[in-house]
Amino acid sequence: MISDRRQFIQAAGLVAGYALLPGLAFAGKDNDGFINLEARPGKMPLLGKGKPLTGVWGYQGTSPGPQIRVRQGDEVKVRLINKLPQPTTIHWHGVRIVNAMDGVPGLTQEAVQPGKSFEYVFTAPDAGTYWYHSHSRTWEQMARGLYGALIVEEKDKPAFDRDITLVVDDWRLTREGKIHEESFGLLREWAHGGRVGNWLTVNGQEQPEIPLYEGERVRLRLINVCNASILSLGMTGLDPVVIAYDGQPVQPAALGGNPFGISPAQRIDLVVDVRAKAGGGALLAFEDNQVLELAKFTIRTPSSPVAGFGGKIARLPDNPLPDFAPAGAMEVELKMEGGAMGAMRSVIYKGEKLAIGDLVKVKQIWALAGTAGLPEAPLFTARRGQSVIINMINDTAWPHPMHIHGFHYKVVESNAKPVEDAPWRDTELLLPRDRISLGFVADNPGKWLLHCHNLEHTAAGMITWFEVEA
Ligand code: C2O
Ligand code: CU
Repeated sequence: MISDRRQFIQAAGLVAGYALLPGLAFAGKDNDGFINLEARPGKMPLLGKGKPLTGVWGYQGTSPGPQIRVRQGDEVKVRLINKLPQPTTIHWHGVRIVNAMDGVPGLTQEAVQPGKSFEYVFTAPDAGTYWYHSHSRTWEQMARGLYGALIVEEKDKPAFDRDITLVVDDWRLTREGKIHEESFGLLREWAHGGRVGNWLTVNGQEQPEIPLYEGERVRLRLINVCNASILSLGMTGLDPVVIAYDGQPVQPAALGGNPFGISPAQRIDLVVDVRAKAGGGALLAFEDNQVLELAKFTIRTPSSPVAGFGGKIARLPDNPLPDFAPAGAMEVELKMEGGAMGAMRSVIYKGEKLAIGDLVKVKQIWALAGTAGLPEAPLFTARRGQSVIINMINDTAWPHPMHIHGFHYKVVESNAKPVEDAPWRDTELLLPRDRISLGFVADNPGKWLLHCHNLEHTAAGMITWFEVEA
């Protein structure tokens, strides 16, 4: 039996002592220029030192997998070697990638069978914080640990002393530290907020200590890899300034003491100036009426000089995204429906109209534009280079982080109000009853997924695709 999430996390907070942050291992290249990523079972000390290890699935058997760091415009070559008992693929989340490398089984490639391998070769056009993860039985494979950070460095190195990636996950563990397998595939959770964890980690560690050095200006890259948890985060002892969302630069803006939201699959890049007098700090998560400490920052005296933070934080150079203009855009309506407390009565599933009772039997209880699950035909087909506006209508009682593969988009209208200058995002959170219009230029040919990144919602029907002509 697992305990109530709240109690379990509180108890965890009482565990004394902080282990050192495992430097997220970097991926190394083989002789042929490929990074070999072996998807395989492994063991991780998620519960902490001296506690039972957790059997995970990870790239090189670790979770997060090795951090892949490349320069903007570089060719990335990764060989996925499947040593799992299930077929798998890798999706490069947020990368405006060539379609054949997007990693979607049944749409852009065949799933890689156990014992087989697949070579991913693509260029990373945009600098920023991205990530990679399994896209096959994603709700199970990601919950078991199959993800990692993909960092694309700017061509000219920005003026930060250090650059630290923080991958935040919530695991559902048993008291003995095993992955809680009984809760995989529970329809009740799929129809509600998804499979929420009871054990939060940063870079695979519970409450790690992250040393910062006095006088440094540090870039922190936060990635939410949770299946379903929308995190509300904050910091003490440090004044975070946001410089990018989902990899794309924004005008640097101080967050003040305000909590900031990060939903599944989203990233936030922050800059902090480390002032010794603060005496340290922490990364916090707010949940219900509680404050949880995710990671602890300790401030040390640098042993070598740091460049520091004399000047103001400059905006990062913009990525080469096509400009979006709404004039002449093709408009597509995307009604989101289903879930507990929803009004969905019947939708199409595998070409057949099913009533809610029959949908429940096949575990399809969410729908996009009247269809549950991946439809045969695309939601729409755009000409290459055409501007597209998708009008998303969240006709459900639940929030949904909506992700589009292969593109970044801008919110142009939110609940009947025009929005100016929204950041480019690849994943945007829609709250219950939200009506949000987003725009992008369909400049990348291929078959692209559009789905909710609450992975239980995806599995239970909230997924569709569109096509951009060659
Ligand atoms: Cu993060 Cu369909 O992906
Ligand atoms: Cu959803």
